[in-house]
Amino acid sequence: MLIDGSTRIVGVFGHPIAHTASPAMHNAAFDHLGLNWRYLAFDVPPDDLRGALRGICDLGFVGVNLTVPHKLLAVKMVEEVDKQALLLGSVNTIVAENHQLTGYSTDGYGFVRALREDFGMELRGRRVLMLGAGGAGRALALHCALEGAAAVFVVNRTQSKAVSVVADIRKLTPRTFAVALPMDAKSIARHLDEVDLVVNATSLGLRPGDPPPLAKFPSRCKRLRVYDTIYRPVETRFLAAARKAGAQTANGLSMLLHQGARSFEIWTGRRAPVAVMRRALHKAVYG
Ligand code: ATR
Repeated sequence: MLIDGSTRIVGVFGHPIAHTASPAMHNAAFDHLGLNWRYLAFDVPPDDLRGALRGICDLGFVGVNLTVPHKLLAVKMVEEVDKQALLLGSVNTIVAENHQLTGYSTDGYGFVRALREDFGMELRGRRVLMLGAGGAGRALALHCALEGAAAVFVVNRTQSKAVSVVADIRKLTPRTFAVALPMDAKSIARHLDEVDLVVNATSLGLRPGDPPPLAKFPSRCKRLRVYDTIYRPVETRFLAAARKAGAQTANGLSMLLHQGARSFEIWTGRRAPVAVMRRALHKAVYG
């Protein structure tokens, strides 16, 4: 790795950020393609985000990724927002050009590619149970509707957020039946038989002592696909319960990979070397 006067810089802003595996994934891709580019991680508290974004213009960065807690805040801090990012109200990729910032969202793309790769599944016509209506849950639920899902059931501890996501889906499209459900095992169980896909987009499972967002799956639920946006640990209690009941399961590493690959393509204009990025990501996350 050579860093010199013409090295192009991209990176990620988050808070906290120490755990990020994105530098490993992107730098492996730059090395593979022989690009004199580097990807760095920056711990940026929310109050400093505006200044840090001006800084990337002044310093000539190509752009940055944004992660928790910046994705929603940044929508108002960029000059231009692409259509999908505007719709989702969330920006995870920024391009800095001629002192102008443009915001994109590649999370939905990552989700769609992940489902295709892990389950051979398209969202069109599917019925989805979304657990979580925070930043991630909202974006994924809306994305299901954008992709033509037949139904999205949104479950969240704070019911008002689920109701608000459902209202946004209804504004977006009349094609997708959307309803908010309370986060209780009984009402969820009633819907498990009629959905194709269950997604955990809550943060439950990140910490070792967390209860799973859903602990019981119907027995012999072979046609059910269960996706956890969490990828560390490799199998959460939620995913283990689903697997034991016979469901097909996958964790969020594929989504992280594909959203990153799309950001890479936006910045470089080159096709992302996905296999190289996958290997680097796997090694950084699981050793
Ligand atoms: P992210 O951007 O990763 O989605 P977030 O916006 O803070 O982060 O959302 C976290 C999600 O996990 C929310 O759906 C949250 O539920 P609330 O909206 O009710 O806060 C959910 N969550 C976090 N801790 C939880 C817990 N102990 N029980 C149930 N849900 C929880």
